[in-house]
Amino acid sequence: MVVTHTLDGLLPADVLGRQDPELADLLIGELDRQSTTLQLIAAENFTSPAVLAALGSPLANKYAEGYPGARHHGGCELVDVAERLAVERAMALFGAEHANVQSHSGSSAVLAAYAALLRPGDTVLALGLPHGGHLTHGSPANFSGRWFDFVGYGVDPESGLIDYEQVHALARSHRPKAIVCGSISYPRHIDYEAFRAVADEVGAYLIADAAHPIGLVAGGAAPSPVPYADVVCATTHKVLRGPRGGMLLCGAELAERVDRAVFPFTQGGAQMHTIAAKAVAFGEAATPAFAAYAHQVVANAQALAAGLTAEGLAVTTGGTDTHLLTLDPAPLGVDARTARGRLAAAGLVLDTCALPHPDVRGLRLGTAAVTTQGMGEAEMARIAVLLGQALREEPAGRLVREEVRDLTGRFPPYPG
Ligand SMILES: Cc1ncc(COP(=O)(O)O)c(C=O)c1O
Repeated sequence: MVVTHTLDGLLPADVLGRQDPELADLLIGELDRQSTTLQLIAAENFTSPAVLAALGSPLANKYAEGYPGARHHGGCELVDVAERLAVERAMALFGAEHANVQSHSGSSAVLAAYAALLRPGDTVLALGLPHGGHLTHGSPANFSGRWFDFVGYGVDPESGLIDYEQVHALARSHRPKAIVCGSISYPRHIDYEAFRAVADEVGAYLIADAAHPIGLVAGGAAPSPVPYADVVCATTHKVLRGPRGGMLLCGAELAERVDRAVFPFTQGGAQMHTIAAKAVAFGEAATPAFAAYAHQVVANAQALAAGLTAEGLAVTTGGTDTHLLTLDPAPLGVDARTARGRLAAAGLVLDTCALPHPDVRGLRLGTAAVTTQGMGEAEMARIAVLLGQALREEPAGRLVREEVRDLTGRFPPYPG
């Protein structure tokens, strides 16, 4: 492995390298991989060095079960301030009456939302997994499918758009206790007002799982679910560019139920280093620079969608409103799994995903990470051409790999 990066500036003075060179080499190798290939996984991003600093701080040592001012451990004075800062910043950023920043992940946030509002056996209406629902939206392999009775709505097979009439009809016939809106691969804005109207008509809670678009919401580049949903669940590590983790937003009337659903119902001690890193990320997300970033993420995704369409790929819904897009590589004579492998070999890292047509898999791409690196529409147009080349003929992969190395070299995620 030819490694061109160091951890200088990201880790204090090579402390790890001296003590545990084997592991330090792995970390450097991963930094090198991230810096020399294109990160097009829609759920990933590059956090700032300040977020990484909070993650690698002494707050990682602190046990803090409970909430600020009501902990089960001593010595929480300073971490209490950190959590209060994170909560206040999240509330201000999203205009929410209450925020819980303790969820360890997006899945933990969804679990807490269900725990706050539902009982085992309740009926829940959510986007079906073959149409882009997350595991926590009723997969039989997940607690959600085991403990609740999920009914799935879908997207229109032709347009790829959520079938709001079907949502309405299913809600009326199944009378769910909650309706979940949110997806791992839906490229368009969700009509939260329409979901609220259906939920009100059948007396259901509305849970918005905004894990993907929440960073765009923070930057004013996507509509907010906060005014419409009873509870909003989210991740902090996608477009939002914070540490890996989750959070919940809700109105004052549900605050206590949501907090109790996180601790003590579904989690133990809060991870204070991650909460501090969330506070840092919320602070960053409140700046004009982040709003410009969020809008550029969308402009880049739209440029990428246009370029990929010009390459002959079938982009679902004909484009995107957000940071992500999905496509069917079949017009280029290759299935999604083969495509992902070929692209990975050429240095383009992305995922396969479900497509609106049953049993057909496609590719999912996102622009959060490459936009953090400073790339714009011109680079997206070039990436679309490179992707087409790498898919069309396998021998082109090596040339594409060289150009990807050159392109990423001009846009380092962590400039030294
Ligand atoms: C819609 C949605 N919900 C929940 C999650 C779960 O997040 P995590 O992987 O942090 O548990 C994701 C993750 O991609 C997601 O996209």
